[in-house]
Amino acid sequence: MRVAVVGATGAVGTTMLAIMGARNFPADEVVAFASERSAGRQLPFGQNTLTVEPLSEQAIAGFDLALFSAGSSISREWAPRFRDAGAVAVDNSSEWRMHDEVPLVVAEVNPEALDGHQGIVANPNCTAMVLLVALAPIERAVGIERLVVSTYQAVSGTGQKAVEELRAQARAVLEGAELPAPEIYPHRIAFNVIPQVETFKDGDPYTTEERKVIGETRKILGRPDLPVSATCVRVPVFTGHSESVNIRTREPLSPEGCRDLLSEAPGLAVVDRPGDALYPLATDAAGQDEVLVGRIRTDESAERTLNLWVVGDNLRKGAATNTVQLGELLIERGLLSARA
Ligand SMILES: NC(=O)c1ccc[n+]([C@@H]2O[C@H](COP(=O)([O-])OP(=O)(O)OC[C@H]3O[C@@H](n4cnc5c(N)ncnc54)[C@H](OP(=O)(O)O)[C@@H]3O)[C@@H](O)[C@H]2O)c1
Repeated sequence: MRVAVVGATGAVGTTMLAIMGARNFPADEVVAFASERSAGRQLPFGQNTLTVEPLSEQAIAGFDLALFSAGSSISREWAPRFRDAGAVAVDNSSEWRMHDEVPLVVAEVNPEALDGHQGIVANPNCTAMVLLVALAPIERAVGIERLVVSTYQAVSGTGQKAVEELRAQARAVLEGAELPAPEIYPHRIAFNVIPQVETFKDGDPYTTEERKVIGETRKILGRPDLPVSATCVRVPVFTGHSESVNIRTREPLSPEGCRDLLSEAPGLAVVDRPGDALYPLATDAAGQDEVLVGRIRTDESAERTLNLWVVGDNLRKGAATNTVQLGELLIERGLLSARA
């Protein structure tokens, strides 16, 4: 079992290596790929170190599995190349997610979708992923009629450079120094809230991130017409996406019933004792694989409607953990050798 990790030096890639090491991922060999800039860099992996290699036609031969987190343009070019060289590619970028022949999979929600893969499998957007872990049990039990989600997204969701941007700006504000000009975000992010995640494309009043949350939620739930509305907001948090979720269900579901249902669901932990100031926090979710859910209550302004507060680590369950889980599922289900 030879496994390539593409984008191994990035925010998601380094998390992926740490998770693979911690879970004893069943690989005989792991090879770390990044850009030419990082060639030769040493990365920790379990008890060992890996030497980063640049991508090349020769270097990609002989892999069973390739885990990608190097951005859309790299995935567009290199995922098919790895596939053609005999590997199954699991991709973290948005490049392949909405292609009909590419399964878009949350490990706890729709693992059976992996069965029909054709060499490329997509990992959902981090915001959609966190949301879906909480939504899927509700959809299965009582059906969802309409969904409104507002997000509070951490800067590590934009990658390593965005983390550095927040740190540099926050330091400048606290020291009373001149603020470095924003490079990653359109506005200063330190001590600010920006109602734009990603870009406004072709005059669309919704951002590309909001479109991903809407489209991916529908695809994963197999509900192409599900009414969904999203507002995605960037906040000065390093790690952990928080989401306010308003759900109208088909059948009635009480807050107690919802709490019981979600307590039993895989990949979730209910943290819901608001009277004791216990509810999901980004600082608690960061570093955990479980998605946290709380503030479960009736929306008194509408029938059969609940409000939830859902928080997950965007780098772990939102990206790296699910990618590693998909790799494990492909191995367990014999879906690597099946292709060969
Ligand atoms: N951050 C999140 O929460 C999150 C969640 C879900 C999905 N994703 C997706 O995961 C991907 C990576 O995100 P990230 O946050 O980890 O970004 P990042 O921190 O900026 O890392 C990007 C990685 O891609 C590598 N790379 C860049 N150009 C390359 C090239 N020409 N050839 C090979 N490797 C190259 C970089 O290598 P160098 O170090 O050599 O530049 C680095 O390892 C993106 O598609 C993103 O949308 C991210």
